[in-house]
Amino acid sequence: MKLAAEFDLATIGGAEDAMPRIDRSKAPPDLAAARGAVRDLLLALGFDPCEEGLADTPRRVAATLAALVTPQPFTMTTFANTEGYEDLVLARAIPFHSLCQHHLLPFIGVAQITAQIAKCLDRTLTPKGVGVILEAEHLCMSLRGVQKSGTKTMTSTLLGTLRHDPRAREEFLALAGVRESNLARRLAVLVSRRESFNAAHQLYDPALSDEQNRDVFGKCMNLHGHNYMLDVAVAGEIDPETGYVMDLKRLSDLVCKEIIQHVDHRNLNTDVPWLAGRIPTAENLAVAFWDRLEPQMPAGTLRAVRVWETDKNWAEYRGGE
Ligand code: NI
Repeated sequence: MKLAAEFDLATIGGAEDAMPRIDRSKAPPDLAAARGAVRDLLLALGFDPCEEGLADTPRRVAATLAALVTPQPFTMTTFANTEGYEDLVLARAIPFHSLCQHHLLPFIGVAQITAQIAKCLDRTLTPKGVGVILEAEHLCMSLRGVQKSGTKTMTSTLLGTLRHDPRAREEFLALAGVRESNLARRLAVLVSRRESFNAAHQLYDPALSDEQNRDVFGKCMNLHGHNYMLDVAVAGEIDPETGYVMDLKRLSDLVCKEIIQHVDHRNLNTDVPWLAGRIPTAENLAVAFWDRLEPQMPAGTLRAVRVWETDKNWAEYRGGE
């Protein structure tokens, strides 16, 4: 492989959008205002900013924070794939640092931007798959919160082949020096949210005659309604700050947006475009609901979608495990 082209993000369009970083204001830092704010902060914390050792602190702090929130421009390098190389290309142990937006404390790495980095690479390089694993020490956790120095937070985002092909994923994790079981253990706590909706359906296969449909589906071939319940289970790591695996209100919002508002008070046979062509059994609904939710969630976190058709019958889909 030969080095073929170097291109600057600015030349491939959407440069601002492609920068994998927490977006701060487009305006450059106002250092004078920041110095004043640090001086006020010192006063508010009970220090005298005129004291000898603190006299130059506002300037130093303002400059340091400004540097931490100002990303350096960078150039992505690609190689002409003249030899038809189809396998993984892995860059390991790339150091990074930034500023935690919750506490303005530095960290070596950032959990929140894992997905942004993966999507940026995916969009810029259009590979078959992208995997990003970040292991970061957050000073906001080392110094406060759990107060354990060296506490590392690991986050991962897998897209394309690395998300869907278990063998490719295994190879990537092995090369990256991460045991899948370690990731799995971090995703060991399950939480679940229940939503409800009511809808009409008829179990009827248009390819069969009425007689055959009656044989297969009995009285369910007639249009009738159910009060459905939907349980969505999500796995994850407990956030040491919130104690949550996931804010279940956010999960609820997602389930309502992707599913409930489309199916509530509807005829599932005729009114829901993304159910077209499926016989709306609880089984098919569970799979269809999974397919709506899974792409919207961090890789590997959606664990089960269970559809209760009555209080006696449910069907559950776990993503073909
Ligand atoms: Ni029914």
